[in-house]
Order: sequence, then structure tokens, then C-alpha cells
Amino acid sequence: MKTITSFEQYKADYKKSIEDPETFWTDIANDFLWKQKWTKTLEWNFDSPEVKWFIDGKFNITENAIDRHLATKADKTAFIWEANDENHLPRKITYQNLHDEVCKIANTLKSLGINKGDRVCIYMPMIPEAVFAMLACARIGAVHSVVFAGFSASALAGRIQDSDCKIVLTTDGAYRGAKDIVIKALVDEALEICPSVQKVLVYKHTHSAINIIEGRDVIWQDVVPNALSVCEAELMDSEDVLFILYTSGSTGKPKGVVHTCGGYMVYTCYTFQNVFQMDSSVSSLPEGEMPKAERELFWCTADVGWITGHSYIAYGPLLAGASSILFEGVPTFPDAGRFWKVIDKHKVTHFYTAPTAIRALEAQGLDFVKPYKLDTLKVLGSVGEPINEEAWQWYHKNIGKEKCPIVDTWWQTETGGILISSLAGVTPSKPSFATLPMPGIQPLLVDEKGNEILGNNVEGNLCIKFPWPSMIRTTYGDHNRCKQEYFSTYKGLYFTGDGCRRDENGFYRITGRVDDVMNISGHRIGTAEVESAINMHIDVVESAVVGYPHDIKGQGIYAFVIVPSTTKNHDSLRQEIIAEVNKIIGPIAKPDKIQIVTGLPKTRSGKIMRRILRKVAEGDVSDLGDTSTLLDPSVVDEIVNGKI
Ligand code: WT7
Repeated sequence: MKTITSFEQYKADYKKSIEDPETFWTDIANDFLWKQKWTKTLEWNFDSPEVKWFIDGKFNITENAIDRHLATKADKTAFIWEANDENHLPRKITYQNLHDEVCKIANTLKSLGINKGDRVCIYMPMIPEAVFAMLACARIGAVHSVVFAGFSASALAGRIQDSDCKIVLTTDGAYRGAKDIVIKALVDEALEICPSVQKVLVYKHTHSAINIIEGRDVIWQDVVPNALSVCEAELMDSEDVLFILYTSGSTGKPKGVVHTCGGYMVYTCYTFQNVFQMDSSVSSLPEGEMPKAERELFWCTADVGWITGHSYIAYGPLLAGASSILFEGVPTFPDAGRFWKVIDKHKVTHFYTAPTAIRALEAQGLDFVKPYKLDTLKVLGSVGEPINEEAWQWYHKNIGKEKCPIVDTWWQTETGGILISSLAGVTPSKPSFATLPMPGIQPLLVDEKGNEILGNNVEGNLCIKFPWPSMIRTTYGDHNRCKQEYFSTYKGLYFTGDGCRRDENGFYRITGRVDDVMNISGHRIGTAEVESAINMHIDVVESAVVGYPHDIKGQGIYAFVIVPSTTKNHDSLRQEIIAEVNKIIGPIAKPDKIQIVTGLPKTRSGKIMRRILRKVAEGDVSDLGDTSTLLDPSVVDEIVNGKI
């Protein structure tokens, strides 16, 4: 695929992509391996909504991500796996190894009764087998639903039930920093209420003791190595479902975002190549010292349980034939220099991480950065939340040594790939601005009433007015929810849920969510989800949750909780509430602050005025706005006075 190499070319391509999107995307899609060409490039309407790309095209994404490269890159590294324990030898997986492993798992899944269209839940830590498993599903046309291994048994069960998964792929346990984490026991607990699951395939990773349920549980190492390492790829239609990925919305229940094969393939590869500007042409990644220009290595530090891991660990880099790092550990283990140590160790050239990680490492001081050269780095990336100017500067100066362009990539689970970002070293960048839309992306800002805000130096709600190949197709099992959440707020537009500023040069800066969704360390969590978990505690009468600015996490979770006046020991109550949230969602959703209150600011119609709570949580109580419409304005004083 030809990538954009100058700002002029970006402008010309952007223009073409808007004037004639179908020809633009046809040219790009032609670079892939199709068994049958599509008959029509695009059909769409944003009312139903219905979006179809590359209609009637037939192919398999794994033949594009793996088989296609074997003629010239069989020995090229697809992944280097860096274990949690730095003394553990890294595992190197070539494209040929990847092919063989994926086929073996694909054949195993078939022998366990998995067919095209069946849903497969993958609940695994960051080991190569997790990526192999995703691709194995794609190989046979099964739909993967990866659930982040930090979610609780109850959160896992909800996701398995929603899409009626037939099998769960998991491990005995996981290593996270200094901790050994139980995984299989959580699956066992979840499956007590998941009748659709017939089999559990367990990869022995930590070799910790596990419970085996006869007839249901199968040990990976007993079956996969014996399976055939060739497996014909299932012929898939462009609009067949590739995967479901659950994400939080404005209601309590996470929604299953559905992505389909054709558009997702074309868009993730296109954006990977253009945003990061990697040279993936080298046919093998040589051992030892080679001139820098001859080897490039990508490292996206996300977990495969999130969309970033799907698009820029699993699919994008492999479709492009690139080499990447797969990292099991955490940024602060054994110390806060781990990222930088791994960059030097493997000579990483392109590094893609989240602002929360940058801020956390910045807070540990430069002593953890100084021992490392970091001289192989060429491009830095940021994703998941707005990057504040200070973190941007720190990253630029201390990690990029003022030589590496930073791409601030804005996108969402629903968008499948990066929508707004600079192209590394090719288009201009500006600290804390995602900058310009990718070719094919037509952003616009609207006011509260849905009127388009024209011109520059303006701020509004970010919408997209034209389809792009990897956009959400539906929310699994509930198409109406997809329509309500994304296509109903502003008629005829896809609404992102984000606020956004467009500066005097037309550069976009995402300012954060404008709905009831929080962004905690780059993880999306709905306020309603946390509230319903808190409300499960027997003493809790009612609760309201808002996000507030947090130095490291970007946003922290602030919970206002009503308990009966007879509940005396508030400290132990807070601990119990946190335990409840851990149990129902997982540790990522636990409140940072819990304020016990006797009432919440409600309108006469019973609606909680979150605006007021947000102000209190932010510590800005100078102007709480009009409180006269409240049922009981006096609760506001109590809340302000009791602020933690
Ligand atoms: C929300 C999507 C995109 C993969 C990771 C998160 C926020 C994401 C940026 C950025 C400012 C960003 C938005 C978006 N976000 N990237 N570069 N600058 N905000 O995916 O869980 O679907 O969350 O993350 O608020 O709506 P997600």
C-alpha cells in the first residue's frame, strides 16, 4: 500500500476522499487479497442506521494478515513477546510460526464444535496465545469477543450471556507486576450463570492449581500441539461479523460493539501505515546489530482486551506485515524504567502508549529514564484520552529526545481505527491536539441543538457526517441501542460523545466526554455502571457517580452515596463499597473518593443534577449555577461542606 509522504499529498488525498469516497477506498481496498471482488463499494444511511462497505466482497482477513506475507516474510518476526518477568527469555514468533499456531488453534476450535458465526469468548492475559486465538476465530469465521482479563467474574458473565458464547478460551492464571492473578477460578464462577458455554479451553501459563470440570474443560497443551498446522481459511463476506467488543455506555449495561470483516481490515491497515509511517517492507528482522534503517519494530502497550489492542496489536500491524512487541507486564514492574528498558533491549522504533502511563512514569522522576539510550525511537504515539500539554512535553523531551514526532490519535471502540491524528513526521503536530482527520473522515462540530458550527476557533460536540470503512455496524443483539446511542442525538450524524475545539488552523483538540461516560486511565467506564455496582451494597440507598480531574488517571471516580443514618462506621462502609465494585466490574472501576451524603441534588422530576456534583467533585464550588429548581436546595450546602 502506498503511504502518504508529504503534507501536500495528505491534502490532495483528503480532498479526493471527500469528493469521491468510493473511488478513494476502492483504490486502497484493491491492495488486499480478495477471493471475490466487491460489486458495490458503499451503501449507507445514518437513520436506520445501516452501513455496508465492499458489498459482496469475499475473502478472509487472516489470509491478508498472515498467509499473504509468507512468500517474502515467512521468517520475519511478527511478534516479540516480552514477559512480565524480565528474566524470562523473550519469545520470538515469525509469520510462519504465527500461521502454524493460528491454524492449530483454528482446527482445535473446529474439533470442539465451533462453527462459522459462533461466538467465542477470549479471557486471557497478554500472552501470544491471546492474539493467536483471535486470529484462529477469524480463520474459521467464528466471532471473537475478547474480555479484558481485569474484569470481574460478574462482568465476564454479563458479556458471555449477552452474546451467547459457546466456548471460553482462558488461562489458569496471569502475572501482573509482582502479583499472581487468578483467572480460571473467575471463569468457573462466571460460568455458573452462563448456560450457553459448552467448552472451556485452558492454556496453562502460571501452572497454578485449577479446578477441572470433566467434559467441559480442555487443557490447551493437551490438544492444540497435536492439531494440524494448516487450516483452510473460511470464505467470509465483507459484512460478516469479525468481532464483538464490549464497551461502556450511558446505561448500566455494556454494549457489544460489532465490527465486520472488510471495512475493518482496510481501515486498520490503512491507518496503521499512514499514522505511524513504519517501513514494513523489510522481509526479515535480522538478529544482532543491523543498520537502524533496516529494521523497524512497533510497540503498542495496550491490552488486547481493548480496541487499541485489537486494531494496533493484532490486526493493523499484521495486515501491514510489521513486527511488534507484545508485552505481558506493567509499566512500573520491576520499576518505573521498564518501558524504557524494553525499548533499548529490543530496539523499538515506534512506541504507542497512553497519557496515563506517561504521567505515572513522569511522576516517578527522570532517574528511571536516564539509564536508557532510547536512540532507536523514531515515532511516539498517544491514545485513549486527551494528553495534557505537560505530559506531551515530557514525552517529547525525555523519551523522544525532541527528535520523534508524536501522533496524538483520537478514536473510539466504535470507530474501529484512528479517525483524527497527525501522520508521523508528515503532517504538522501540535501539543495536545489530535490535529487533522484521516482521509475519508468528515468531522463536524455541532451546538446543543445540532446546528453545525462553521469556521475556525470554535468549540462544540464532535460528530462525523459520512461513513468510513471500520465504523460500528450495530450493537450486538440490540440494533435500536446503536441507533439511540450514536445516531439519534443529531439526526443524520454519528455522534461521538466527545466535546471538541477547532483552532484557528482547523486543528482538532478533543476536550473529553460530554455524556455520562468517564475515562479512567484511558479506560471507558459508564457512571451508571458504577452506580449500579455501588447500589448492590446492602446499606446503599442511592448513589451518583461523576468523574473529576485526576493527576495520573486523567479522571478519577467520585461517588456520592446515600446510606441510612443508622449506618455508623463510614470507613468500613467505604471499603465494602469498593469491594462490591471490584466484584461486580473489576478494580479499574473502583471509586477514588466516596462521600456519604443524606440526599442528592434532584430536580422536581427526580433527575439528578450531575452538573452540580461534577462541580463539587472538581472542587470548583464558586459558581454552582441555578439551584432554585432543585427539590431540596439545602442538600447542596451539605454536599459542598462534606466534600473530600
Ligand atoms: C474515548 C474512546 C481509542 C482507543 C482507546 C479508547 C477518548 C481516545 C483520545 C485522544 C482525546 C481521546 C475519547 C473517546 N479518547 N483517544 N487521542 N484524545 N481523547 O477507546 O474506550 O472506546 O474510548 O476515549 O473520549 O471518545 P474507548
